[in-house]
Amino acid sequence: MSTAAKGLEGVVAAETEMSFIDGEKGVLEYVGIAIDPLARHSTFEETVFLLWNKRLPKADELAAFSKDLRSNYGLSKETKRLIALMPTSAQPMHVLRTIVSSLALDDPDPNSTDRSAVQAKGLRILAQAPAIVAAFDRHRRGLEIIEPDSSLSFAANFLWLLNGEKPTDTMERAFDACMILHADHGLNASTFACRVIISTLSDIYSAITGAIGALRGPLHGGANEGVMVALNEVGSVGEVEDFVMGKLKRKERIMGFGHRVYKAYDPRATYLKTLAKQLAEDTGNAELYEKSSRVEQIMEREVAAKGIYPNVDFYSATTYHSIGLKLDLFTPMFALSRIAGWTGHALEQLDANRLIRPKADYVGPHDKPYVSMDKR
Ligand code: CMC
Repeated sequence: MSTAAKGLEGVVAAETEMSFIDGEKGVLEYVGIAIDPLARHSTFEETVFLLWNKRLPKADELAAFSKDLRSNYGLSKETKRLIALMPTSAQPMHVLRTIVSSLALDDPDPNSTDRSAVQAKGLRILAQAPAIVAAFDRHRRGLEIIEPDSSLSFAANFLWLLNGEKPTDTMERAFDACMILHADHGLNASTFACRVIISTLSDIYSAITGAIGALRGPLHGGANEGVMVALNEVGSVGEVEDFVMGKLKRKERIMGFGHRVYKAYDPRATYLKTLAKQLAEDTGNAELYEKSSRVEQIMEREVAAKGIYPNVDFYSATTYHSIGLKLDLFTPMFALSRIAGWTGHALEQLDANRLIRPKADYVGPHDKPYVSMDKR
């Protein structure tokens, strides 16, 4: 009988000072600060500084950090050319993964695992990821690529690069809050992938590329797109009941619900629910919010007793739709933000590195004879 913990459930595989999760109480803190005040009062730039330096910055430190980040917003000519070569039918997560990997190619010292070098490279990947996603989206729409604006915040710069218009304060603030909420979350699957890769003393480009691949899956970051697909399948609020009950009867998953760690309401979902409602009302998407809310009511009635509640992806879908993002950009939004967490975890791993190399229980046969090809 195997002793392996399926899905590594309950296994502690790293130490971190970045995020603390109490899954029973529905608590999430970044470096000891609850996620709610951070989402309300902080900015994404400040949050990244917090995660990487384990303390909030003073005003001059934040100004210097933001300046550094913003001076890295622009893509090289080669990167733009590569994006222009991407098939317009490609999926944005595949493009993001491919182009982030390619950023190593013009780095004169891509393999350095020196702390300050890894942080600088992580900062460059973080700064350029919005331009990569936006440039590909414009390329597939047959539009010119827009140059970044270093006077803009991370959030506003992305919306500018995508739409060619400066966002309203409300849209910038909403998007910034989403970036804060997605920045880090313990040893989730993509972060684990990142730490495994960097633990071999491979490079940060490989670690983040691998993490993007892990995030894309529908059981992880890809769930936010799954939520929107499901909400689009339901014609009206009145049809939600049959839709959800049908799925539960067929033992299908309702995307955006359940979590390996949270057995209570995900605190990120608490914040996003309020944000989604307000944005949906402001942007003529009230019915979409009503549908989401009805899904939640039915799930609460049917499965909350099993500890299944909305997770971060559920109300992200309505939020991103109201911000005007296309469905297949939802998971890239998660990635833009999580690059901050992945980089922080790569730094923590390198600070006290030991190769991550667990074992597998061998459950196959022994002592079988080798049979030559002509006798098989
Ligand atoms: N809808 C219906 N039933 C569910 C769901 C769901 N979304 N999630 C879990 N369950 C049920 C599952 O059927 C099982 O029931 P039973 O014990 O009767 O067989 C029980 O809950 C435990 O499920 P599990 O698959 O063993 O739980 P897990 O810890 O392996 O999976 C999960 C966690 C997130 C993969 C799962 O809840 C799921 O598939 N959710 C939908 C996808 C999703 O929203 N993913 C985003 C996760 S949060 C953001 C992120 O970190 O990426």
